[in-house]
Parts: sequence; structure tokens; C-alpha cells
Amino acid sequence: MFTYNPFSDLALLVPAIAMQVFVIAMILLVVASTVLDMVHKKNVIYFFRNAKKAKKSAKKELSTGTKTAVILKTVAHDIATTSELGMGKRRIAHVLGMYGTILFWISSVILIFNYSDGSTAPSYLALMWHVGALMTCLGGYWFWFFLRVDVSAEAHPWYRIITADLFVLALLSCATFGLAWSYTQFSNNIGLSYLFLILYIVSNLILFGGVYWSKFAHMFYKPGAAIQKNLAEADGSRDNLPPPADAPEQFGLGIKREQPKHY
Ligand code: HEM
Repeated sequence: MFTYNPFSDLALLVPAIAMQVFVIAMILLVVASTVLDMVHKKNVIYFFRNAKKAKKSAKKELSTGTKTAVILKTVAHDIATTSELGMGKRRIAHVLGMYGTILFWISSVILIFNYSDGSTAPSYLALMWHVGALMTCLGGYWFWFFLRVDVSAEAHPWYRIITADLFVLALLSCATFGLAWSYTQFSNNIGLSYLFLILYIVSNLILFGGVYWSKFAHMFYKPGAAIQKNLAEADGSRDNLPPPADAPEQFGLGIKREQPKHY
């Protein structure tokens, strides 16, 4: 089942070109909604204005080589391992979900564009698709049931849903219904496979159509902010923030009483 390509059987029902147009439409939705979001929130204008202002207080001019090194280090450390989440469950759950989603999306695009015309896909591609969906579910459900701030720190029940949950829930629906569709189609359970296929399509429409209202775009904003922060650290401007105090961190014994979680 893990090496089964569900898109090749789907091509018997839906022409491959329709699947390809769907993928292109989803990509266009992400681009258009992100641009609309940037225009509406004016966050990119703020970001560049802030970077320009900070540059004035830079202590040194960075060479192209140093800038490239800072950017590469940020990509390899801050972005690739979501280092801002610290060492712990939150980071592991995020890394699982992030790489799971990347595997799921990349393999979907390759399977749909190259192997939905009847040609046999290499088994590793279908495996990537299923493993990606499973990793997304693992990281996402872990986050949803146990790690979400409103559940873990504010004691709200896990089933309380707010607009901010749109992204994680749509992402989880895509991965869950995708797996359920693949399994039911593989085991010839036609009725259920149609139901899960429809739910999988609707989840994708919500995920990619909801970018403007959801946290989807954080995957573009966060890397940009991390690069800017590290460049500001390297040129000494520190985003116009004061340097760390040159004194030992003494917070008293109370700080050890419990792990910080009421944020
Ligand atoms: C394919 C790429 C990515 C996916 C699928 C993804 C997925 C997610 C999901 C599902 C959440 C939970 C959202 C919520 O609060 O409801 C989240 C939160 C977060 N993401 Fe991402 N993300 C991606 C890329 C990134 C990148 C590149 C960064 C940073 C460089 C990042 C940093 C964060 C942070 C800091 C949070 C808050 C986590 C928390 O509250 O525990 N993400 N991400």
C-alpha cells in the first residue's frame, strides 16, 4: 500500500490534465493570497523600512561573502531546524510536520505531472507521498492535541477551535483524507474511496484557498525575518535593540519552581 500511486488509478476517473490544472490553481492561490496579505497588512513595507532604519546604526559594513555566509547559516540552522522553537517537543513536532508536508507536496507534484498518464511511478515516490502524509499527521496531531499554547498553557480543551487553527486543521485534513483515500482506493472500497477523495479535494481547497486568513504564509515570513535578524546581529545594528546586559542572569530561585509555560 505504501508504494501504491493513488494518482495513477485516479487518472482512470479524472483526466491527468485536470489534476495538473488543479495543482497550478493551488500554487496561484498561494501566490495571490500571500501578495494580498502583504498589501493588506503592509508587513513587508514595515519589514524593509525597519531594516533600512536599522542599517543606519550598523557598526560595520558586511561584505557580500559575509552576508552569504550569514544567510547560508540561517538557512541551515534557523530555518531547516526551526531553531526558534528551542530544544524540545515543540521543535520536534514542527520539524516532523514541516518535512512531512514538504515530502507530501513535492511527491504529489511529481506523481501528478509525471506519473498520472499510465506510466509506472518508481516505488520510492509513492513511498515519499505516504511517509510525508504520515509525518505531517504525527507532528500535526501531536501539536494539536498536546502542544498548542491555548491547550498546553491556557487549559482550553483540545476541541476548542478558533480561526487561528484554520492552517493546522486544513493541513491535517489534507494528510489524513489523502491517506484514507489512498488506502480505500488501494483496497477497492470504491464508495469510501470516492468519499475520501472529495474530502481530500475540499481540504486542499480550504488549505490553499484560506491562505489569506490562515497562518500559511508564516512559512515565507519566518525565514525572511530570521535572515534579517541574523544580518542585523552580524552588522551590529541589532534591529536598534540594546545589547544583552553584561551581567549574570540572576532571576532568583523562584524561576526554578516550574517550567515557563504561561505565555
Ligand atoms: C512547509 C513548511 C512549514 C509547515 C508545513 C509548517 C507548519 C506549521 C504548523 C502546522 C504550525 C502550527 C500553527 C498553529 O499555531 O496553529 C506551525 C507553527 C510554527 N511554525 Fe511552521 N511550518 C513550516 C515552515 C516554518 C518555517 C520555515 C519556520 C521558521 C523558520 C516556522 C516556524 C514556526 C513557528 C515558530 C511556529 C509556532 C509554533 C508553536 O506555537 O509551537 N515554520 N508551523
